[in-house]
This record gives sequence, structure tokens and C-alpha cells, in this order.
Amino acid sequence: MRRAILAANWKMYKTTGEAEDFVARFLPHVARADDVDVVLAPPFTALDRVGRRLAGSPVALAAQNVSPEAEGAFTGEVAPRMLADLGCRYAIVGHSERRALFGDTDARVARKAAALFAAGIRPIVCVGETLEQREAGRTLEVLGSQLAGSLAQVPAERAAELVLAYEPVWAIGTGRTATPELAQQAHAFLRVRLAERFGAAAERIRIQYGGSVKPDNVSALMAQPDIDGALVGGASLDPEAFARIVHFRTGGKSA
Ligand code: PGA
Repeated sequence: MRRAILAANWKMYKTTGEAEDFVARFLPHVARADDVDVVLAPPFTALDRVGRRLAGSPVALAAQNVSPEAEGAFTGEVAPRMLADLGCRYAIVGHSERRALFGDTDARVARKAAALFAAGIRPIVCVGETLEQREAGRTLEVLGSQLAGSLAQVPAERAAELVLAYEPVWAIGTGRTATPELAQQAHAFLRVRLAERFGAAAERIRIQYGGSVKPDNVSALMAQPDIDGALVGGASLDPEAFARIVHFRTGGKSA
């Protein structure tokens, strides 16, 4: 049985004060979230403050990106060891926004994932097809090649620690969620490819769905056999909305 993992990807939102305000309002909702993993990925600038506020809580800290390099003359970059130092337990890599806007190729994502493992941080590796690719009937081909390329350097003995996120680009920030059945098809395909690559460990790898996840659609998505969590953008910016997503099993109620 895979433990559900609900992650908030705040993207480029929230100052430190806004981030702390979120945490203060969110934590009371998750005192009892002991059957799921809950993860917050604030922007780099808020990691330290959010991390301090999360200390001793069941909520894990994550970064939204990382440099593949250990250290050096890389102006503007943040190294895996710096994230570990702030208490990050996860980091998102290969988000479609980074792939589309900041030149993250599969090869670069693979290096980032390997660098995270080396620093003791679990990567959340994102894959997903564009609308054009889906309409051309290329979804599985695209997912297969992103998966193979992005996971090329994952050490086999650490595979179970990996988190994969299926995020169809056409569903991100558009209000257009993949139907649970459509998402399940993609997740099942990814699981088969994971099994080809990692054998039995594939059954332990969590695959999150991302793309317009909301309090009112999360339960149907999570009911699918290969959907093990959600990576949530817009709806994660509001503490009450994200709390309802975390409590998807009880229809959004925390008690
Ligand atoms: P969204 O973003 O929930 O706002 O669609 C998801 C993501 O990009 O991770």
C-alpha cells in the first residue's frame, strides 16, 4: 500500500510574511494528518522561515527547483546541499514551467534528480504532455521518453524514494482537470515503465497527479488505483483549500 502524498507547489507566490501566515492557518488542520504525507514547496526565499515554522509538525518542506551542481560559480543557482541545510526533504524537478521557460531538458532533470539523491533529498520528478502532443496521439510516447530521460540517473536501490508527478500541461492552471480515467491511464502506463526500469520497486513509487486539482475533484482522482497523490498549484495557495485537499478521504473535514 502506497502512502498518499499531497504537495503544495506555490510557484512564484507569497512573500515570507504571507508564507508564515499560511503556515499558521494551515497547521491546525493537519495535526491529525497521520495517514498521508503533506509537503509544502514555497519559493526559495521563504524556505527558511517556513521550515522553522514546520519544525516538529508532520508537514515536510520542499523546494521547487535545484541546481544539478554541488557548488561553484553558478550565479543565481541553489545547490542541493543548501536545501538539505534548510531541512528540505523533497524538491520538485522538471516541472513543465521549468521545461518550457527555463530550458530544463530530460538530461538536466536527470542530473538534478541524481544530485538530490546524493544530498539525501527525495526528488518529485514531473512529466506531462502538451495539448498538441495529446491531440496528435503522442501522449504515451512523450511520457515514455520523458520518464526514461529524466530518471536515467536514479540509483536503483533508491528508486522507492522517488516521487513521480504526472502533470498534463493542458491541465495546469487552466481549470481543465484530466478526468480520473484519463489520468489513471497515464499513471498505469508510467507504472509499467517504472517496473521495466526498477522491477518490484515500481510498486512502491508514488505517482502524483497534478493539473487543476481542487478540493472538489481530489477524491475522485485519488480513488484511482495508480494515483497516489496530488501536486497542487493554485488551490494550494489558500490554507483552507489545501487542508480540504489533504483530507480528501473525509470529504475535506479534518476531524
Ligand atoms: P495547478 O498547478 O494546480 O494550478 O493547475 C499544478 C502544478 O503546476 O503543479
